[in-house]
Amino acid sequence: MGFDRERYDRIKAAFALDDEALRKIADDFRADMRAGLAGEDGATLRMLRSYAGLPSSRENGSFLALDFGGTNVRALRILLKGNGDYEVLSKVAKPLTLPGVYDYVSADATAEEMFDFLAEIIDEAIEGNRMTKYLLGHTFSFPSQQTDLYNASLIVWTKEFATKGVEGKIVNDLLKDALARRGMTNVTPVAVINDTVAVLLAAAYRQEHTYIGSIYATGQNTCYYEEFADGSETATVINMESGGFGHLPFSVYDDIIDASSEQPGAQRLEKMTSGRYLGTLFGTALADLLEQDGAYPFTSIELSEIVADAYLDRHVAGALLEAKTGMTFNAAERTLLQELAAAVIIRSARIVAATYAGIIRHRSGENPLENQYIALDGSVYEKMPLVAHHLRAALDTLLENDAVNVQIILENAGSALGAALAAAMTEAK
Ligand code: GLC
Repeated sequence: MGFDRERYDRIKAAFALDDEALRKIADDFRADMRAGLAGEDGATLRMLRSYAGLPSSRENGSFLALDFGGTNVRALRILLKGNGDYEVLSKVAKPLTLPGVYDYVSADATAEEMFDFLAEIIDEAIEGNRMTKYLLGHTFSFPSQQTDLYNASLIVWTKEFATKGVEGKIVNDLLKDALARRGMTNVTPVAVINDTVAVLLAAAYRQEHTYIGSIYATGQNTCYYEEFADGSETATVINMESGGFGHLPFSVYDDIIDASSEQPGAQRLEKMTSGRYLGTLFGTALADLLEQDGAYPFTSIELSEIVADAYLDRHVAGALLEAKTGMTFNAAERTLLQELAAAVIIRSARIVAATYAGIIRHRSGENPLENQYIALDGSVYEKMPLVAHHLRAALDTLLENDAVNVQIILENAGSALGAALAAAMTEAK
């Protein structure tokens, strides 16, 4: 054996989360929602008001959408046709980091450089047009404090973004200045929404009874439609920043990842669940197993490849594991390491399911659960093996007989369509 079996069992067990622990997470999450809504000290959920309601489905016209927040930036021209119908008229996508060429997300990059790059992409999407007037909706996928649909200031970067000079700023002002520098005064940013909100708006445009929007990708976060049953506030979509939820059973590996991250102590749920961290989590556990310091640098895509390997000798997983560690493993060991990778992924899916159960119970209160939809987007949900299955299974466990009333829908077009809808919704007022 290339590693000690007892040590392996102990490490793998660190990622186990039984049904009882899962129920506790759902309950604690629900309690934290209440505390966060009331602005109580000790709440870990930010519960940010988005100042967006749900779309009427009558929204129509042509709008620009900027989707900014993951590894790629996209700018689109979208024609809304009403009744859930729309057409993408043009689309430009570029990565925020091109190794050896540019990197707009590191601490060496400035706000100006980053927003000039965004303006350039928008310019491409409108093919240099300086005549037509465009309203732009901006999906900005970071925690922002809003006072209305336009004014959103970045509270703090997440997902290891570190660009200087953006935190504390009104992001649409930064964008407006960058547009002005290029002479693009015909483009007017009118709305900023979180990507979870975009997913919810996009799904609700097409499907009634959708109240929850969620991203399960580089980051992990969820929003929902809060109706304030006590009448204390106007109903609005709340960006929970649920990746910041902090009442969780952390393993030693979670603590290691947190300590070496850009923002220690923050985004603890995200660091256990999202694509930005899952590969590293596995790499950290593997390093411990092989009695090495630090973490082997696995990406979440490589983690997917390891668990997807169905060959009897697990040679695909083996090649990946051997390339990173410089060690060789026999088929039995590769299978065990594959199971460790699976444990990391399954825990992630179960935690995310527990947050959904918490939200659903918060929304329904003592009332019977109405038929409803959760709109979900993101590469982890869509592409990572085991995730969709275990998410659904855990939700079924937590909701028991009510589970049949809740359906999960994949909302792929969310970020862009939602931004266009948000822009259109400012016009309707
Ligand atoms: C991070 C961001 C959040 C975003 C999520 C998904 O959690 O803080 O705003 O929604 O990533 O992109």
